[in-house]
Amino acid sequence: MMIDKHALLDAALTARQNAYAPYSRFAVGAALLSEDGRVFTGCNVENRSYSLTCCAERGAVMQAVAAGCRRFTAVAVVGAPQGEIPTAPCYPCGACREVLVEFCTPDTAVYLTGEDTTLGELLPKTFILEGTPVCE
Ligand code: THU
Repeated sequence: MMIDKHALLDAALTARQNAYAPYSRFAVGAALLSEDGRVFTGCNVENRSYSLTCCAERGAVMQAVAAGCRRFTAVAVVGAPQGEIPTAPCYPCGACREVLVEFCTPDTAVYLTGEDTTLGELLPKTFILEGTPVCE
């Protein structure tokens, strides 16, 4: 059975519980639904050097690709200050949008807290490297 929007958001919320965010104190969780129905999650993992911080979305993508999944039909992202329940959309940062584009399509659903959108809406007119397939 295919999991629905709420189940994917729940998976992102669960992953968010493991966010390591001692510097920003902003906890983010992400969940990806692969074409074959598997779910991969990630949370933000910060670093004392700050710039080495990894976002939740990119963590989830790395998990999925390492497990052999490269195509996703939906993405859920939730974020809020640590200790608070997300009540507003946490939009993926530009870097994460670009990384998601590598393994998604413009119509990939993006579920946020209180808002549904698509990856094509979040990042239109993406860079296309001539001669390179969108995703092998
Ligand atoms: N963060 C994410 O995990 N995903 C995003 O798309 C935006 C920002 C994290 C990075 C950092 O740990 C914290 O949120 C505050 O920027």
